[in-house]
Order: sequence, then structure tokens, then C-alpha cells
Amino acid sequence: MKPQPSPQPAAPGVVRFYNFLPPGNNFLEDVLAGLARPQKSIPPKYFYDEQGCRLFEAICELPEYYLTRAETAILRTYIAEITQFIGPDAQLIEFGSGAQAKTRILIEALQTLLYVPVDIAEDTLRASSGELARLFPLLNVVGICADYTRPLWLPEFAGAAIRRKVVFFPGSTIGNFTPAEALVFLKQARRAAGAGGVLLVGVDLKKDKTTLDAAYADSKGVTAQFNLNLLARINRELGADFQPSRFRHRAFYDPIMGRIEMHLESLYSQLVHIAGRRFEFATGETLHTEFSCKYSIADFQELGKRAGFTPEKVWTDPEQLFSVHGMVAA
Ligand code: AVJ
Repeated sequence: MKPQPSPQPAAPGVVRFYNFLPPGNNFLEDVLAGLARPQKSIPPKYFYDEQGCRLFEAICELPEYYLTRAETAILRTYIAEITQFIGPDAQLIEFGSGAQAKTRILIEALQTLLYVPVDIAEDTLRASSGELARLFPLLNVVGICADYTRPLWLPEFAGAAIRRKVVFFPGSTIGNFTPAEALVFLKQARRAAGAGGVLLVGVDLKKDKTTLDAAYADSKGVTAQFNLNLLARINRELGADFQPSRFRHRAFYDPIMGRIEMHLESLYSQLVHIAGRRFEFATGETLHTEFSCKYSIADFQELGKRAGFTPEKVWTDPEQLFSVHGMVAA
């Protein structure tokens, strides 16, 4: 007799959710406060509504945006070493998990049983967690919708045979923080990892201005759409009257500060209304939307040490575009 195909697909892993976001997520307060500053600015975490998540995924595919490809290649190339470094029975915690594409490489190699993705974008978190649970029937996923730029305590999972925690923070998302903010975040990651826990963090490296400028001002204008989508989101969710066509995307590398600055530049002298408040933009005035800080390997290791980690491993691509650091919580 021929073997019968199994009548049912394998049962998906278990998925649970917690939403730790405050109601309204402080969006209005943050926008009003940011627009009242001399240098108007809005935190980059607000890029990621549904359309923003989609546009970011499109950015990751752009020829100029080397970051995602370089990091994925590093993870694939060194996955055996990374697996050995982490050891068996690790709980995987991921900050800014997004579409969770790189996570699959780790979960497969580590045979992870407990995965805790933390992200601010609830719909993306739910969709990608569900997808991952379908792919890995033995995996327990505990999705946490939260803003990790604020103090955060993750639930403990008793009963699971966990030997250590691994905090995975890929994509050079840590570059959105200034170095001082990154230190605060790393201390939080240190707390989440616990004694003997591991931090696996992707960090974009300093390099020539031409490569960096192109990565954040691509020829198809996808990054411009991503940046301008913030104005559309403010209009939609907060009832503002931004005219996105009256602004343009600006992004440039500042080699002194070692960071990309991203802005929306007002093309005209104009007024914008939000929640009964009025904001004036002069021609050429900018709304700052993002920093993307770049590091040398030594500088990032120093930051890790100051946060209570011992830097043990660094993996890079042959062109030294990107780095993945393995650090142990001291
Ligand atoms: C998601 C923060 C890593 O800074 O490279 C991409 C966001 N901004 N293009 C980055 C982003 C413009 C990205 N991070």
C-alpha cells in the first residue's frame, strides 16, 4: 500500500498576544509636542502604520538599501557559529520584529520553542506571528505589542525548559536611537536577557557618504513615500490637514555625527492644523523624522560594555557593510 498523505496539515504552534500600548499610543501628544519645538520633529516609531510597514518591506528590497541583504547573508553564513554561541533551549525575544523574515533563520537553527516578538505595529505583529506559528508547529509565540523606547517589563514564562534568554534586535533599528538613548535601550535589553543571557544585535557600520546617501534616498523614491506616509497617517488618525505634496523627502549622511538624518522639507510657507492647534512652516523649514546612527565595531562594543554586556563575537559581511554582535549579559 502506498503511504497515505496526512489528511490534515501539521497543527500550527500556539500564538498568544498581549497589548501593552497605552490607548491612542500617545500619538497626538507626541505630534503636538514635536511640532511645537524649534526644530520640529516626530519620533520614527510612528512610521509603522500598515502602509508604513509595507513601504519599509519594499525599502528592504531596494538595490541601494544594502542593510537587509547584508544582515541576512551574515546570519545565513554564520548560523552554525551563532547557534553554538547561543546554545540549546534558548528563549528568543525580538525587539522590533516587523515581518520576522530573519527570525526564521534563527528559529530553524536554534529549534526555538518559545519566541517573544515585541513590536509597536499590532497588525504586522499578529500576521507575521501567525505565519511563523504555521511554519513551526512546535513553536510557542507570545506576541507583545509595545513601545520598547519606553520602560518595559516582559512577562516571565514559568514551566518552559529555558536555559537562557536571547534578545535579538536586528536591522540596525538601534540606529534610530542616539548613542545616549541606545545606552538606555541596551540596559533595558540587559534586564530582559537576565544574567548569562545573550544579546544578538544588528548594527550598520560607518562607510562612505555616497553609499549611505543612496541607501536613504533611493532612485525609485520608495524611501520618500515611506517618509511622506507619516503626514498621511497624521491626517488620517489625528484629523490634521497636511498636504504631503507640499513637502519633500530629504535624507543625508552627516559624517561628523556618524548618522543619517531624515527630514520632510516644506516647499512653501504654509499652515497646518491639528486638533485645534495651528503650526507654521516656513519655506525650506524641515520636520525631522529619523536618525539612523552608524557605528564602528569598537564604538558599538564600548556601548555594549557600558550597558553591562561582554562583547564576545562580531560577524560581518566581506565588504564590512554591516555587523552582527554577540554579547553576553555580565
Ligand atoms: C528600520 C530603523 C533600521 O534606519 O535604516 C529605512 C528605517 N528609514 N529607510 C533604517 C529606514 C529609511 C531603518 N530602520
